[in-house]
Amino acid sequence: MKLPTIYLEDDYSAMARRGGEIVADIVRRSSRLVVALPTGSTSVGLYADLARRHREDGLSFRHVITFNLDEYRGIPKDDPESYHVFMERNLFAHVDIPASARHLPDPLAASSGDEVRRYEEAIDAAGGIDLAVLGVGANGHIAFNEPGDYVTGPTHVAALTDDTWTRNFPSLAPLREKNPEVRARYATAYTVGVGTILRARRILLLASGQAKASVLASAVRGSVTPNIPASFLQLHPDVTMVLDRAAGDWSLVKP
Ligand code: GLP
Repeated sequence: MKLPTIYLEDDYSAMARRGGEIVADIVRRSSRLVVALPTGSTSVGLYADLARRHREDGLSFRHVITFNLDEYRGIPKDDPESYHVFMERNLFAHVDIPASARHLPDPLAASSGDEVRRYEEAIDAAGGIDLAVLGVGANGHIAFNEPGDYVTGPTHVAALTDDTWTRNFPSLAPLREKNPEVRARYATAYTVGVGTILRARRILLLASGQAKASVLASAVRGSVTPNIPASFLQLHPDVTMVLDRAAGDWSLVKP
């Protein structure tokens, strides 16, 4: 077991800049790099920082191959909530990652069983993940590996917990009572497994905000448990965490 390297930054922007600096440094020093990518509000700032480095400093991503960590299942790729749309808007449209080097699970694949195998095999065929960039859910989920889910496995289909659903779709939550179809539309997702993540050569986790403090403290200091999927990162020898002050303030969290 090895403790992660933790950077504590003042606020969200400083977290995003530090994350960008770490990723940019790895991108610059590699001739070929396979990166796993998260979505969510935490990653928006990171992607904006990387886009700025591409625009202003000429940082090139032409040798980078990306695999997104997850995607909702059963929606079209151009659904406004899809991670295809999120990635295009926040990163792909602004940097020079070749289109053929960007991978996400296909939300409308005819067979989920075939799709999870295809995705895992594509990661293996690319040589495995060099750098897995992660966010974390307030309940400790990484990618869409929810607490108590089949966490140590490979890519699979996971069911979103109500808590994650409500946090991920704040604007849709009020519609949910009247229209259960809205909840059902984003009920499941393809996710790489914690097993896939743990095979990455390096892991970089970013987190911001007080809502993440308690779960991060447990993930880093507590036992390794499927109830907190992020706690499995304790089993990895090369984890860096970049936290803003609120996410890194564990003073009120019971040991
Ligand atoms: C989603 C993603 C996760 C991400 C999490 C955190 O559930 N599937 O990969 O880590 O959101 O989101 P946020 O950064 O918005 O807190």
